[in-house]
Amino acid sequence: MSAQTHTIGSMLEYGEQLFQHNKIYFGHGTDNAWDEAVYLLSAVLNLPPEADRSLLSQQLSEAEQAQIEALFQRRVKERVPAPYITQQAWFCSLPFYVDQRVIVPRSPIAELIYNQFQPWCPTTPNKILDLCTGSGCIGIACAYAFEQAQVWLSDISSDALEVAEINIEKHDLTTRVTAIESDLFSAFDAQAKNSFDLIVCNPPYVDAQDMAQMPAEYGHEPELALASGDDGLDFTRRLLREAPNYLSSQGVLIVEVGNSAEALERAFPDVPFTWLEFTQGDDGVFMLTSTQLHQYAHCF
Ligand SMILES: C[S@@+](CC[C@H](N)C(=O)[O-])C[C@H]1O[C@@H](n2cnc3c(N)ncnc32)[C@H](O)[C@@H]1O
Repeated sequence: MSAQTHTIGSMLEYGEQLFQHNKIYFGHGTDNAWDEAVYLLSAVLNLPPEADRSLLSQQLSEAEQAQIEALFQRRVKERVPAPYITQQAWFCSLPFYVDQRVIVPRSPIAELIYNQFQPWCPTTPNKILDLCTGSGCIGIACAYAFEQAQVWLSDISSDALEVAEINIEKHDLTTRVTAIESDLFSAFDAQAKNSFDLIVCNPPYVDAQDMAQMPAEYGHEPELALASGDDGLDFTRRLLREAPNYLSSQGVLIVEVGNSAEALERAFPDVPFTWLEFTQGDDGVFMLTSTQLHQYAHCF
C-alpha cells in the first residue's frame, strides 16, 4: 500500500481492489469485495453494522490505517474467512463470538427463525433442540424468538461447545439454554424421549466431491462440521432414524442438507419431504413432522 493517508472511503476502495485482484472467495457473511472490506474495517473502528455513509470522508489515523491494512493482508494471504479474523459473526441480527472451533454462521434457517417457523410449527415450541449447534447461533436465536422456551444446544465436539457456552453467557441466557456434548442423541437421558416440540439441525452435509473442490477459505473450518461421507448424508440418515424418538407428538424436525438435497430425494423417493422456500433464493432445508417420521420409519 502507498504511504498516502486514507479516509474511510479510500481505504475501503483500496480493500475492494485488493480483494478483487487476489480473487478471494466470499461465502462467510458477505458476497462481494466492498462489503468484505467494510466488515473488516468496521471491526477495527468499532462501527455498527449499519454505519452511515457520511463516515466515508472521515480521515483515518496512521495507527488505524496500519491495523486495517494488517487485517486486509491476512484475509488475502491466509484466505481466512473475515469473521475468524474479527472473532465475530452476525446471525439473525445477533452478534456471536466465533473462532476456528466452529463454522462461521450462515444458515438460511435464520429466515425461519425470524418468522418463528410459521407456518411449519403447529404450536409455540416450549422445548427446542439445536442439534449440531456449533457456535450455538441457531438455538440462541430460537431462544430470542421464543421467550418462554427451554433450549438445548448439542454437539459432538467439545471444542465447539466451548464456543457455544461463550455465546450462551454473552447473550445472558444461562437460565434457559443448556449445552450438551453428544454424538447425535447418545448423551440424552430418558426424559428427553418424546419431548422436543422442535428439533432444528444444520448438520455436516458436504459430499466427498464438494469437499475435494472447496475454496481455501473452507479449509479453516472444522472438517467434522462439513464432511458427511460420500453422498453427504451419513449424519442425516442416522438423524432420520433417531429423531422420531425425541420429538413430541406435535413435534417438527427441520434439517439443512444444502447441495445434498438431490441425493436425499434419490435415497428416500417415497418420503414426502417438505422443502422450505426462502426469500433470498436459498434452498436445501426440509421439514418432516413427528407423525411423518413415524409413518415412514420403515424407509430409514
Ligand atoms: C455445519 S456445522 C453447524 C453449526 C451451527 N449449527 C451453524 O449453523 O453455524 C455442524 C456441526 O455438527 C457437529 N457434528 C458433527 N457430527 C456430529 C454428531 N455426530 N453429533 C452431534 N454433532 C455433530 C459439528 O461438530 C459441527 O459443529
